[in-house]
Amino acid sequence: MAAVDRVRELLDPDRVPGPGDDSAGYLDLLPPDAQRPRTGAQNAMHSPLVASVYERWWRPAFSRVLLGPNGPSMTDERKLARESLELDRARTVLDVCCGPGNFTRHFGETLGDDGVAVGLDVSPPMLARAVRDNTGERVAYVRADARELPFPDKTFDAVSCFAALYLVPEPFRVLDELVRVLAPGGRIAVLTSYLTEWPGVRQAELLVARLTGQKMFARTEITGVFTRHGLTEVRQRISGAAQFVSARKP
Ligand SMILES: C[S@@+](CC[C@H](N)C(=O)[O-])C[C@H]1O[C@@H](n2cnc3c(N)ncnc32)[C@H](O)[C@@H]1O
Repeated sequence: MAAVDRVRELLDPDRVPGPGDDSAGYLDLLPPDAQRPRTGAQNAMHSPLVASVYERWWRPAFSRVLLGPNGPSMTDERKLARESLELDRARTVLDVCCGPGNFTRHFGETLGDDGVAVGLDVSPPMLARAVRDNTGERVAYVRADARELPFPDKTFDAVSCFAALYLVPEPFRVLDELVRVLAPGGRIAVLTSYLTEWPGVRQAELLVARLTGQKMFARTEITGVFTRHGLTEVRQRISGAAQFVSARKP
């Protein structure tokens, strides 16, 4: 069965308006003008030019700024993701805010024959790039809003959301959705911004965040959500102005 048909099987009929359109190579469940960008950062994610350079140039450069010059490389990030999501044991993985599929394809390559990696994003240019550059037998892409995931509770063995929570509207609603669709025993991993506790640098980070329309998350904001949801094995790794947080749903 094609990966996109596997995704159709996973959808919650009560959360999707109709069958969706897969003529562009991804399953589009939204009207064309869904989530109009409001900030500079959101706008960039809807630009075909940014989408075309994102995986090769934009993301590696952004990682150096966010994670620091000695932080993990893209290869390290993928390894960290695979390990913390325990993909060797997973069958279904959801990569929320997948951009051009720069993690999703690797996730699909890690899964067994009956596995499926679903990349979900709201931006048509990003998804067009994902379909162009990062397809695979066990990979499918969906256009949907991370604030209202179109899947039933407890669907996925692993759920990720990398380099996105700081620019999505209503990031805490997105976090609740990530936890909702995670199956018992499943693993969740999030990479997002980290607001330093050093007073001078903290003010500078907050200023840059305000100017660019991004959110900086304080030390316990993400871990606190996971703990309140009853997740266990909550681990936080801080690197530069970024934090990588993983946990398990009991
Ligand atoms: C910086 S990219 C991250 C791509 C990839 N996960 C990575 O780690 O490089 C952030 C993505 O979040 C997507 N995004 C923003 N708001 C969203 C929403 N409400 N629902 C789904 N995707 C959203 C953007 O379209 C963009 O592709």
